[in-house]
Amino acid sequence: MKYIKSDYEVFELELKSYPFPCKLCKKEQAIIEIPSQKIKVCKDCYNQFFENRIKKAIESYKMFKTYDKIGVFLSGGKDSATLLAVLKKLYPEVALQGIYINLGIRYYSDKAEEVVIKLCKKLNVPLYIYNLPKEENFRIDDFIFTYFKNKICSVCGAIKRYLFSKIAKNLGLTVIATGHHLDDTVSTMLNLFFQGDFESLVKLEPVLKPLYTGQATKIKPLYTTPEKEIFFYAVLNELPIVNFVCPHADFTSIKKKKKFLEDLSKENRQIKYQLLSVFLKKLIPLIKSHPQYKEKLVQPVNICIKCGEATSSSDQICSRCKRIALLNKVSDKTLELSYQEFLKYVEKLDKEKIAIFVVNEETDIFPNAIYISSEFLNVSKRKFLKFFKPYKDKILFFYSSDPKQSYLFVLKLKKAGFKVFNIKSVSF
Ligand code: FES
Repeated sequence: MKYIKSDYEVFELELKSYPFPCKLCKKEQAIIEIPSQKIKVCKDCYNQFFENRIKKAIESYKMFKTYDKIGVFLSGGKDSATLLAVLKKLYPEVALQGIYINLGIRYYSDKAEEVVIKLCKKLNVPLYIYNLPKEENFRIDDFIFTYFKNKICSVCGAIKRYLFSKIAKNLGLTVIATGHHLDDTVSTMLNLFFQGDFESLVKLEPVLKPLYTGQATKIKPLYTTPEKEIFFYAVLNELPIVNFVCPHADFTSIKKKKKFLEDLSKENRQIKYQLLSVFLKKLIPLIKSHPQYKEKLVQPVNICIKCGEATSSSDQICSRCKRIALLNKVSDKTLELSYQEFLKYVEKLDKEKIAIFVVNEETDIFPNAIYISSEFLNVSKRKFLKFFKPYKDKILFFYSSDPKQSYLFVLKLKKAGFKVFNIKSVSF
């Protein structure tokens, strides 16, 4: 199985029988390598090694008690799926609740929802689904029409944090477990360190206690587990997962830190653990005890006057409500047109004013269309924008019989300020 995260992060796993026994039990045939240990083992030993490390992490931080009700927010990806599977296996007596928030991200959220339903069925865990477009009449994609068009992931984070806390309260959860792994944690720590954002660093601890009564404790049981090993576990145990990333994922500075970390790991296999230990055991305790930060860290909790959720914002409007207010000012959020809508749209337009691109195929439907390969999405931002610069004053339309491919072009160009639409279906 192949899992593509970005142009440099591709995980691949093909299980094969090695011509020698498992390095740990010495009995079964070795079929998989534990990347961090560089040893080849059998399925049972891989699982045992993997689960023991998570158990140790949970126990060393006393993350929860057996009477807790733990919610796992599932994204459809490998991290949250693995977290749910391991918690269910290690702690069958604990009440677990799967939660999926359908964020309305086109060509992603519905597919992920199907996968999450399959996962919870397989693991026999109850699932609660919250559909953002149905419940609140907007989708994450809509933020492309706002000032936050190049920061969709951060807006999404604010919306999700609000929903995590609201849903946790409604479902009576005492603990929220998230799938942040070693690579996420260390690369974010490095990123914040380089930015000098020490207050946010403190929030990366594996356990965050409630700030006010009724709030759930947040835990990160995978914080010592390398990302690649999570992917291997998910494949080895046939967990249903999506093997593509959110279309808004971009080459952010955190990803650059991840690449930097990967390069360092080639020289020193222990580097991620060494950094994690320095941050958790030395730097964070130092920050917490420093008088300059002590005050800032204990911020008063206000109540948002719009949604009633807790906020640290002094103007008493939380970041989620501020962002939604921007959406309310956008009157037209159209990114996709049906073929009929497209015909109507271009009917009165000068043909010189439009350009039609067809992705990955030749078609008679749009005889003068320009062919473009979806591979072009992977070129550098500079090269991408240079190619489209001559079309800046036109209205662009993209079509593909696989509308996800053309939609990715639409998102990328919209973020760069183009007037662009996806033609989502062609029926006569
Ligand atoms: Fe939130 Fe991609 S999942 S922006």
